[in-house]
Amino acid sequence: METLGPATASCDAPMYNPYFGFRESPFNLSPDPAFLYRSKQHEEALANLIYGVQSRKGFIVLTGEVGTGKTTMLECLRDYLEAQRTEFAFVFNSRLTADQFFEMVAYDFGLNCERRSKTEVLFALNEMLLSQAVHNRTAVLIVDEAHNLDWDVLEEIRLLGNLENRTGKLLQIVLAGQPEFDRKIDAPNLRQLKQRIVLRCTLEPFSMEETSDYIHTRMAKAGMAEQKVFPADLISEIHARTRGIPRIINAVCDNLLLTCFAMEKKVATVEMLDEVCADMRLEWAGNRRRGQSSRYGAEPLAGSPYSLGDR
Ligand SMILES: Nc1ncnc2c1ncn2[C@@H]1O[C@H](COP(=O)(O)OP(=O)(O)OP(=O)(O)O)[C@@H](O)[C@H]1O
Ligand SMILES: [Mg+2]
Repeated sequence: METLGPATASCDAPMYNPYFGFRESPFNLSPDPAFLYRSKQHEEALANLIYGVQSRKGFIVLTGEVGTGKTTMLECLRDYLEAQRTEFAFVFNSRLTADQFFEMVAYDFGLNCERRSKTEVLFALNEMLLSQAVHNRTAVLIVDEAHNLDWDVLEEIRLLGNLENRTGKLLQIVLAGQPEFDRKIDAPNLRQLKQRIVLRCTLEPFSMEETSDYIHTRMAKAGMAEQKVFPADLISEIHARTRGIPRIINAVCDNLLLTCFAMEKKVATVEMLDEVCADMRLEWAGNRRRGQSSRYGAEPLAGSPYSLGDR
């Protein structure tokens, strides 16, 4: 059976939901905090982001491999900031010129100024930050996909980090990106920015145990308290093939549920997993060597939607 791609699962409710009795789709690909699985490292990363903002640390950096949950963490931070009524701007498209960046910041902070003029934006931003500071409040700039930022935009961001009064930074800046962002800020021309980063957190793929907890948690949140669709030995195979990367786990599990539905089964099997992995073009070292399923770590094919990006 031809499996469906992740986009199908992420937009509309999948057709298997009534079959399994799910209230919501368990393996949606959107970074939805409602489905948060609090692994130790995700918990720590979120605590760090919140602590960094609360204690006005200035720059905070979150890095992690593709699909490990960075945007999900930022969405959790966004929920926290909204609950605290803290002003924030969320720049999610990082392929911007410096001018577009300022326009976006002004738009997201709701600054009342000529948004196309950098000078006006800076002036209005400063005013807003100072008025927040009077009420002992801060503001937060969140930039996702920071590895894509141009050097000159990074330099502008560094300069924004200079806005401060006597008691601390007026603007807290959270930069999230793939591991190459860490390498980028090692560049000599960014050493000033690097020096200002006071908090760093990294997300790693899940361990075997975490993968299992993750799958159980998502199934429970969707409405299946004690899931039996994915038996323990299948979960360990899913872990091996997905290398514990949440996005790939979601895509694999979503496709397995769809396969179960199509075959009118309530329990997924390794044969179904083989088929799903083949359709997704998911490859892993042992599979390539032996031409069949294995317990070695997965390595998605270059060009597959599940490849780990340019490395
Ligand atoms: N701790 C978690 N709890 C629940 N779901 C998670 C968690 N971590 C990741 N996910 C899920 O994994 C998928 C990918 O997460 P996300 O988009 O946050 O990753 P990312 O690191 O931002 O990826 P990219 O590098 O491509 O931007 C999403 O479906 C998200 O819901
Ligand atoms: Mg992301």
